[in-house]
Amino acid sequence: MTAQHNYDHERELWDTYAESAKKDVFESDTLFRWTQYGDHGPGMELLGNPESVLEIGCGTGRMLAYLAQQGIKATGVDLSPVMVRNTTERWGPMGAQFICAEILDHLRRNFETYDAIYSIFGAAWFSDPKKLFPLVRQRLNRGGSFVFSQPPAIPGAYGPQGMYKGGFAGPAMFTYRYSYTPRMWESHLRMAGFEEASVQVLEAPTPGHIGTLIGRAVVA
Ligand SMILES: C[S@@+](CC[C@H](N)C(=O)[O-])C[C@H]1O[C@@H](n2cnc3c(N)ncnc32)[C@H](O)[C@@H]1O
Repeated sequence: MTAQHNYDHERELWDTYAESAKKDVFESDTLFRWTQYGDHGPGMELLGNPESVLEIGCGTGRMLAYLAQQGIKATGVDLSPVMVRNTTERWGPMGAQFICAEILDHLRRNFETYDAIYSIFGAAWFSDPKKLFPLVRQRLNRGGSFVFSQPPAIPGAYGPQGMYKGGFAGPAMFTYRYSYTPRMWESHLRMAGFEEASVQVLEAPTPGHIGTLIGRAVVA
């Protein structure tokens, strides 16, 4: 977030998450969905018809492995070495490739381009859009799409949201999540150079439950 942003800290936090998500990696099947609810919302059609994809903050890797099964060249980046070790073991044989890196650092150093870049409750939620979006735009092929999903902002709480992990005691483990209104997200996308940008909140299947913010932007 700032010059003091300590990714070692966040790596430790996400390694803890990776330990708790082991079951989702080793005991579940591939799947593809943008929302936190099963069988709800759009599917991989939001990506267009890509030959290559990059998932940023790919976590359990289930979605990336699903795309690899469809014959798409599928690469994922994640901050947690524990997660990347597990996902490589589980989904690597299906053709998905996993890279352990902080996403801003990775995109700054690697010039490979993709037909689609996406994040599902992943790095687009945990990175400053002013830094991330222009890099994503540069790494997309012409006609390529950037799609991301995450929870909508809590009304009135916009910008970086600091979050402690655990019970507010002991060593401080924390991360930042970025929340904006759909219009603010669209403006970040346009400022990053995307020609088309649309961000909406999809209602939850049960009225009154938390919906899903889904953003989609295209390089003309
Ligand atoms: C909520 S989880 C992943 C959700 C994922 N869609 C799944 O199915 O597991 C968020 C992931 O983003 C990764 N992440 C967070 N910040 C990151 C960053 N700056 N660079 C790369 N990965 C990051 C974490 O390591 C974590 O695995």
